Parts: sequence; C-alpha cells; structure tokens
Amino acid sequence: MKFASFAGRITPKGQEAKICTQNKLDSMLLKGKKGIIFGALNEQSIAWKVAQQAKAAGADIVLTNAPIAFRMGQIDELAKELDCQAIPADATKLEDLEALVEKSQEILGGKIDFVLHSIGMSVNIRKKKAYTDLKYDWMQKTFDISAISFHKLMQTLWQKDAMAEWGSILALSYIGAQRVFPHYSEMSESKALLESFARSFGYHFGVRNKVRVNTISQSPTPTTAGTGVKGFDQFLDYADKMSPLGNAPAEACADYCLSLFSDHTRYVTLQNLYHDGGFSNMGMSEIMMGETPE
Ligand SMILES: NC(=O)c1ccc[n+]([C@@H]2O[C@H](COP(=O)([O-])OP(=O)(O)OC[C@H]3O[C@@H](n4cnc5c(N)ncnc54)[C@H](O)[C@@H]3O)[C@@H](O)[C@H]2O)c1
Repeated sequence: MKFASFAGRITPKGQEAKICTQNKLDSMLLKGKKGIIFGALNEQSIAWKVAQQAKAAGADIVLTNAPIAFRMGQIDELAKELDCQAIPADATKLEDLEALVEKSQEILGGKIDFVLHSIGMSVNIRKKKAYTDLKYDWMQKTFDISAISFHKLMQTLWQKDAMAEWGSILALSYIGAQRVFPHYSEMSESKALLESFARSFGYHFGVRNKVRVNTISQSPTPTTAGTGVKGFDQFLDYADKMSPLGNAPAEACADYCLSLFSDHTRYVTLQNLYHDGGFSNMGMSEIMMGETPE
C-alpha cells in the first residue's frame, strides 16, 4: 500500500488524513446533568472544550477558575457564550471550595452529577529551576495546586454530601506520572499523587455514593500549561510519531470526558485511562525509525 504524508504523519494513500475532532456523541448525552468544570483559561484549555461540549450535550454547568485567571484569561467570555455562571475559586483554599460547592448547588438546583478537575501548574518549571536544583517551598506549592487540590475538592464534595448517586469525578493527568520526561520536573510526582488520590478517594465515594473517580492521561496538547514545559514542541512531535493514531487533540479529550460523565460508564472507577492515540503501549514506531509503514 502507498502512503502519503500529512502534517508530519504518514497515512494510507487515498484516505483523508484528518484529525478526528468531531463530537459524534449523542447530542443529549448529558441531558439533565449538573456539573462543575475547573480550569478553562482560554480557548486552548482542555476544560474550555469540555465546557462547550458538555453544554451542547444538554448539561447545566458552573465554570470556575482561580481569581487570577479571571483577570488574565477569558473565562467570562466563555460563561457568556454558554450562558452559565463562572465563580472564582482558588482550588488550594478550602474556604473557596466550600463556597463554590454551596453556590453551585444553589445555581444548578441540586446535587452535582459530574466534576472536572483540569488544573496544573509547576512553580519550579515556571521559574526555570532544574530538577536537580528545585526549591522545596515551590515544590510544595506545585503539589498543592496540581494534586492536593484534587483531594481538597473531593473532601469538600464528600463532607457537603454534594455528589449525586452514580455521579462522576474526573481529573486530567499525563504519562509523566509513569515515565521519565526530563523537563516535566516535579509535575511527574504531582501527577503520580493526583492519580493515587483518584484511587484512594474513589474507593470511599464508590462505597458511599456509587460515585466514580478516574483520571484521564492525555496526549501532549498545545495549551498554556502544556507549552510552558521546556522542549514541548519536541515531545509533541515525538509523541505524535510514536502513536499509531497520532496525538489526541483537546476536542477529542473533551469527547472522552463527556463519555465518563455519561451513564454509559457507570462502572468505570479508580482508573487512570490513557487517551493518547496508543502512545503508552508503544516501544518504537516505523516513522521514528525513518521507515514507511506497510
Ligand atoms: N497540555 C498538555 O500537554 C496536557 C497533557 C496531559 C494533561 N494535561 C493536564 O490537563 C489539565 C489542564 O491543563 P491545560 O493543558 O488545559 O492547560 P491550561 O493552562 O489551559 O489549564 C490549567 C488551568 O489550571 C488553572 N489553575 C492554576 N492554578 C489554579 C488554582 N490555584 N486554582 C484553580 N485553578 C488553577 C489555570 O488557571 C488554568 O485554567 C492540567 O491538569 C494539565 O496538567 C495537560
């Protein structure tokens, strides 16, 4: 079979080499469901796409982000577009999370069916500190924002008994939790902690409320958080060439999030689910070896 190259990828000739970004899910997949979505900063944000698609699938949502993101980002524009409310909350502050969960239940008119934690930030990466020379108070801040905030969020939802039965709680992770990416720095440990919190808290939520808790391990994606990591363009390209399906775009990640909020995945819990075009199970690809796939 002959192959054609498209945007750095090789696909069977004659087949259109398009990236699948279409939301083919049932347009009313989340009808009647109420959700809180953390982390929409700008149009590139994965949470931005999730919010747009959740609304289009019939959900009622509340958006939230850190107060500084309301000043620096475009979350108010998204709230206007989706005709929903956006509430500032620093996910490291329990009092902010408590007020957010209470207000969201008032706005949405009942318990919460789904929550997306789409939050990540490394102070040492931002300040360009090498992994062998980290500042530990910055590392603690990174863990607090990127991982402990997930426990704080779940503990707040738990103590307020705010989750509806068969609800779904989801956070976004990266394969740096399992494999070495030299410039991913302390985010590797943040993601390992995040995934562990999903399992441990997911046990309690499952037993008491039939609520599921999972993480999605997403392909590298060009967003503010993603492109802040040194060498991002190189590992974006590397992951794309290594993955049989290519890197999964943000829109496809949003599709997957919706499926995990929906009733079609009621018995999936305590999982770290790879959404990476197959990257996590690859050792070497023909493209990486400079060969043309058969
Ligand atoms: N971009 C990638 O390559 C990639 C790959 C895998 C996983 N992820 C994960 O996806 C998630 C979303 O990131 P993104 O790529 O959409 O980038 P993004 O920069 O658009 O989103 C990160 C969000 O975290 C928010 N945030 C930071 N500190 C906060 C705080 N104290 N309280 C509340 N919110 C806070 C930011 O305001 C921002 O909206 C993160 O967990 C990230 O680690 C990203």
